[in-house]
Amino acid sequence: MRPSPFHPRRWAVAAALTLAALAASAQIDLTGYWAFRVKDGGVNYMQLQQTGETVVSVSPAGRGGSLAGTLHDGKLHLAATGPRATAYDGAVENANRIAVTMQVTGRDAVKGTLERVTREEALPSRLPLPQLRDVPDNGLGRTPPMGWNSWNKFADVFDDSTVRGMADAMVASGMSKAGYTYIVVDEGWTSGRDANGNIAGNGKFPDMQALAAYVHSKGLKIGIYSSPGPQSCSGKMGGGYQGSYGHEEQDARTFAEWGYDYLKYDWCSAGGIYGPTREEHQGAYQKMGEALLKTGRPMVYSMCQYGVGDVWKWGAKAGGNLWRTTIDIADRWESMDRIGFAQLDIAGYVQPGHWNDPDMLEVGNGGMTADEYRTHMSLWCLLSAPLMAGNDLRTMTDETKSILMNPDVIAIDQDRGPRPVVRMSQQGTSEVLVRPLSGNAFAVGLFNRGNQPAEIGFRWDALKFDSGLYGFRRLQAQDVWKHEPVQVSGDTYTATVPSHAVVLLRVSIASGRGF
Ligand code: GLA
Repeated sequence: MRPSPFHPRRWAVAAALTLAALAASAQIDLTGYWAFRVKDGGVNYMQLQQTGETVVSVSPAGRGGSLAGTLHDGKLHLAATGPRATAYDGAVENANRIAVTMQVTGRDAVKGTLERVTREEALPSRLPLPQLRDVPDNGLGRTPPMGWNSWNKFADVFDDSTVRGMADAMVASGMSKAGYTYIVVDEGWTSGRDANGNIAGNGKFPDMQALAAYVHSKGLKIGIYSSPGPQSCSGKMGGGYQGSYGHEEQDARTFAEWGYDYLKYDWCSAGGIYGPTREEHQGAYQKMGEALLKTGRPMVYSMCQYGVGDVWKWGAKAGGNLWRTTIDIADRWESMDRIGFAQLDIAGYVQPGHWNDPDMLEVGNGGMTADEYRTHMSLWCLLSAPLMAGNDLRTMTDETKSILMNPDVIAIDQDRGPRPVVRMSQQGTSEVLVRPLSGNAFAVGLFNRGNQPAEIGFRWDALKFDSGLYGFRRLQAQDVWKHEPVQVSGDTYTATVPSHAVVLLRVSIASGRGF
């Protein structure tokens, strides 16, 4: 016979369990600092405040927003809302440890633990920054750096073998012959520090030195990633990874000893330590710029603080070879178009060794059409932007290869010509950009940012050749996407440009006899 639900023994057991759970949650006050740790997935610190059963969080470092929720019957639920809603659900193991599953909308659930930590671990105090001075030029990056970076395609869900595969593919696909050189490991490779404070790789990256040796054996160079803050930004696997805060010189030495050739240094949780001013940013970047120089190993210095404090005005002083001018690109026309065309106003700040970086390429990642990717590549090359491919090099379509490896377009990017790109004309969503190239030539881009095909043109005599009026010379022009010559006749050139597409010309003075 099944016991009745009202059986006195059942009631007694149920009452005892409820009382125990109430006692457990009553005893535990989660107020304090916690680290959310995920195996090979970094750490995210949070400060919790508990009042009764209500728990709220403020992330003391990093860019995670605040969370709110409850602790009820030993079960913790914390959630943040927004386009990328995050929820933490956990079971309290003891006053210092909670087993938690984190779920970000649209991503796989991640299991980890919340562990109580000291305030000092969660929110280190601010160390003084150096006095501002000009870091000597390291002599690197005389043309915009070219390579591949893991972030756009993989976020932090990749490992040592992914990177080796990318190095293999960079050579096998012809990318390295086309000029792509650096394989950059973005966020996701660290686990923390050893007893001596040396930064270390995690289970996905067990031997960063061996990885560097492998990439070098392919004739390529390798880049690594860190932050002036205690943690990096927060990958998809749960939290930010180790940053270089308080260990700048030590990490620069480690990267040099391991054989790295490039450092991307991403502001991230430095925002929880330093102020938002230009001086604070410059000081923090200068600190690492000087540390890199001190190692004696040539390392390209890629600054990533999204353009705060008009970085294009002082990035070179901090020792930067390139500096991000913008928030992150996404693999969508609207993002690329907005970021790319916003660069024209600051295009004058580039100089050999010191480049504006409008973020890495999305070509081949699938979110844009081939015309839109040709616009992306054309615009980045006219801007002399670093060309860091952000796609999976192992599985490129012929179309993607034709965009990333077009030698005439890459030649525009790498040209050591006299002046930066300027806007020659803008009519509604039609824009003509022109960039003087070395050898008395010009690159001219006719861009249709609108949703309908458009007639776009320019006057040949708007191109001011050094050797006088074009009218006394014969011009030649090449459509560098179609790989065919363009007839130079009449006063103007006009093309019908499809929506979101570009016509990119290289115009020069015909060699041989004059007119
Ligand atoms: C920031 C940077 C990105 C990438 C991520 C890693 O958003 O701008 O390029 O490095 O951090 O979290």
